[in-house]
Amino acid sequence: MKLVTVTNYHEISVRAAQLVANQVNKKKNTVLGLATGQTPVGMYQELISMFKRGEVDFFEVVTFNLDEYYGLSSEHPQSYHHFMWDTFFQYINIKKENVHLLNGVTENINKECKQYEYLIQKNGGIDLQILGIGDNGHLGFNEPAIGLNSKTHLVNLAEETIYANSQYFNDVQEVPKQALTMGIGTIMKAQKIILLASGRKKAHVIESTINCPVSSEVPATALQLHNDVIILIDKEAAYKI
Ligand code: GLP
Repeated sequence: MKLVTVTNYHEISVRAAQLVANQVNKKKNTVLGLATGQTPVGMYQELISMFKRGEVDFFEVVTFNLDEYYGLSSEHPQSYHHFMWDTFFQYINIKKENVHLLNGVTENINKECKQYEYLIQKNGGIDLQILGIGDNGHLGFNEPAIGLNSKTHLVNLAEETIYANSQYFNDVQEVPKQALTMGIGTIMKAQKIILLASGRKKAHVIESTINCPVSSEVPATALQLHNDVIILIDKEAAYKI
């Protein structure tokens, strides 16, 4: 894993956007794995600015998002579908048919998950995967104790995740208790991975990700086994390393 520590959140966002743009400029039909949460929002804003300046073009880009709450339809304001269109996709020239997110209201979970894996493979696999990290070390919604070879599947959310994500809902009771997520095994198949983290509250989990033995107790430690990972963090997130 290559650790890149920058001064602040703005610099993480600019650097990450440059890395994504470099990839897309090198391969027009790049397959991107994308993340939600607050951490990548600055990167999405930078990419929108770069797109407006003509520095990157998404016309042939294909995307697969990491995860979606189970039980929320794409129209729900807290669904990750909504988040991605609201934050990023509506501002760029990506084709709607090239955007993939898991269907949170699928009637056939097994089929939905298998189809997602199939579509990733059919598109040639993920070239570049962007990740945030949960305070408990989750990637996507792969909570502690998850199998490190897991594929796309339905998960029960950890109590701390439900609590952390309740900030976006009116009440903690409204937070879905389950989600569909790419597995750790799916994420590990990406050619390149960039993990973003900012702020002191991520320092502990970043230290564990880098220094703890690989274990499903901290799912992000699986990244130690990947041969092309950049951990792009700011000084605050790096203070325990
Ligand atoms: C959610 C998402 C993760 C994300 C995490 C951290 O649980 N499923 O993909 O990495 O939140 O979010 P934030 O970047 O807001 O700290």
